[in-house]
Amino acid sequence: MKNSPILIIGKNGKTGLRVEQRLRALGYATRGVSRSTEPGFDWEDQGNWHEALAGTRSAYITFHPDLAIPSAEQSIRDLVALAAELGLQHLVLLSGRGEAGARRAELVLEESGLDWNVVRANWFMQNFSESFMIEGILNGELMLPAGAIVEPFVDVDDIADVAVATLTRPELRNRVFAVSGPHALTFAECVAAISEATGYPVKFTRIPIESFIEGMRAEGAPDELLWLMRELFAVVLDGRNSSPTAGVEEALGRPATDFTEYLRKVMAAGTWDRSGMQQRA
Ligand SMILES: NC(=O)c1ccc[n+]([C@@H]2O[C@H](COP(=O)([O-])OP(=O)(O)OC[C@H]3O[C@@H](n4cnc5c(N)ncnc54)[C@H](OP(=O)(O)O)[C@@H]3O)[C@@H](O)[C@H]2O)c1
Repeated sequence: MKNSPILIIGKNGKTGLRVEQRLRALGYATRGVSRSTEPGFDWEDQGNWHEALAGTRSAYITFHPDLAIPSAEQSIRDLVALAAELGLQHLVLLSGRGEAGARRAELVLEESGLDWNVVRANWFMQNFSESFMIEGILNGELMLPAGAIVEPFVDVDDIADVAVATLTRPELRNRVFAVSGPHALTFAECVAAISEATGYPVKFTRIPIESFIEGMRAEGAPDELLWLMRELFAVVLDGRNSSPTAGVEEALGRPATDFTEYLRKVMAAGTWDRSGMQQRA
């Protein structure tokens, strides 16, 4: 079991990719899985789960699309039961702060009898550069149902560092690490900072939640995603998550990455370079 791989569910995701890279650089064997790997792993089809998990010793788990959705708890419950049956010893769950559904999923791990960790994250900084907000940035206007509430966005590189620490340092087991960035910002402040860094104008426009949902519906978004967006913007984004947390420092002994350093990294990578828009379209 000692030399068997560490399973990463969500291999190509924002955090899974980084966790696998770091573990490999440290010399650990890994098995990254998602719908497009062999063996595959699909949260909506348990047919391949046994093959994906068998022979691994521990797992980093990212759920898709979000632990907030009502079906997530049962999926996590089924996964944890299979992991116990197959002899996995330690499970690390990426969770979302302030989400009732995510808390229910966390409790499944905490009560599993296996070793566990929860990495409970605020909104990711990389939502502006690797997820649904990038189109608005590149198009010069980000429209969201978000106003004066501040959010201490977290850098996913910090999440990956914390996840790897929990996977490789047994003394950190059986704890929740609540991870955020060091400063809380509004979405408008983030967009202003991105505009300044890129040198092109990007406007933030607050829109009513109903307009946002109807716009997504018109573009063909499934009901589950519409439910999720309403939950994230109209329920969770109410100020409950606004104070920075200490999980990065607790796990790693260093401060969390701030938004300025995130901007520097994204600019160096060229992700917001508008000359790439032609290829992207
Ligand atoms: N974004 C945030 O601000 C935020 C904040 C707090 C917590 N979280 C949590 O972060 C988790 C997501 O982690 P992440 O951002 O690292 O991942 P991610 O980037 O959302 O993961 C995307 C990957 O998931 C795979 N995938 C899509 N549908 C799947 C399915 N049905 N079954 C299996 N894999 C599937 C896709 O790969 P394939 O196409 O190859 O399958 C894709 O590469 C969620 O649980 C969310 O609650 C997010």
